Amino acid sequence: MKPYTAGERRQGAIKLSSNENPRGCSPEAAAAIRESIAEVHIYPDGAARALKTALADTHGVTQDQIVLGNGSDEVMTMIAATYLNPGESVLVGEHTFSQYAFAARLFDGVVRHVPMPDLTFDPVRILPMIDRTVRLLFLCTPNNPTGLSISRADLERLLREVPRDVLVVVDHAYIDYQEDPQACDALEYIAQYPNLVALRTFSKAHGLAALRVGYGIAGSERIREIERVRSPFNVSTLGQNAAIASLEASAFVRESSELNRAGKQRMMELFRSLEIEFLPSQANFLTIRVTGEAQEFAREIASRGITVRPLNSFGLPDQIRITIGTPEQIDLLENALRRILT
Ligand SMILES: Cc1ncc(COP(=O)(O)O)c(C=O)c1O
Repeated sequence: MKPYTAGERRQGAIKLSSNENPRGCSPEAAAAIRESIAEVHIYPDGAARALKTALADTHGVTQDQIVLGNGSDEVMTMIAATYLNPGESVLVGEHTFSQYAFAARLFDGVVRHVPMPDLTFDPVRILPMIDRTVRLLFLCTPNNPTGLSISRADLERLLREVPRDVLVVVDHAYIDYQEDPQACDALEYIAQYPNLVALRTFSKAHGLAALRVGYGIAGSERIREIERVRSPFNVSTLGQNAAIASLEASAFVRESSELNRAGKQRMMELFRSLEIEFLPSQANFLTIRVTGEAQEFAREIASRGITVRPLNSFGLPDQIRITIGTPEQIDLLENALRRILT
């Protein structure tokens, strides 16, 4: 197993390497964190009842349809722990988030990569790979690192045609930024498909990455099964209370995605003016193609005070993923790119 390659953090540099929220978290979440300090000597509510109530209201599901994780990363691991027997197969995209393969390998699963020649999850490529050994299919939409979304039509086709004994896990870490009306939201299909789990996180649009709060939504039977492998106090009191406050402060996520939309427009115009190729992202980052080695290019940008993510470990050695920053951060990025390229 290869250790996880994290986005670079560098003292004094702007971090556009891990798709965090450049605004931070909401003032309401920050206040909840401060208030929670009084409770840190007491174990968290292991059942996270208040947070599950808030999430159930937000998503129109019942509390027994929600499992919480120490980040959605942990929910991925719990899913593999629950369903995977050694030697069974897990389908993951060729260019996608690495934690699906990590979770599979942790339980001696066989990782099979679905080819993504045009960088999309294509049912035509996924469906023929499903055989009796496949237990899990991980989809990511909008996908990290491309920012591309799976369409409703493609998800519907997959759900119709994938056998019911294969669990389809749809990771929606970036869905709060999604704008395309054709793009899918797996929550719409949870009631219909007992083999579907949707994953969400407070790490991106809610700006709570350091507190590690993510969750899965599925039919109550699946959730009961996954809950069996959850460690008792996996989400901290600070995390639970901040997440509740953040759900209540719903304007913050809306404003964050508006800031993201404006920043994305600006960054796309910048890339066009510099003749840099980019993918039409539905997320809070843009992936660009560079001439030469991505790692070298990323080092050059970092030397000008901005860390970004070269995509070698995603199998895209000529591409770089850049988080959409604040207007001031984009100014600095623009300066750095103009100096490097012109
Ligand atoms: C697609 C995707 N899913 C999940 C995560 C991790 O989320 P969490 O912080 O909830 O573990 C990330 C983090 O970058 C991601 O890109």
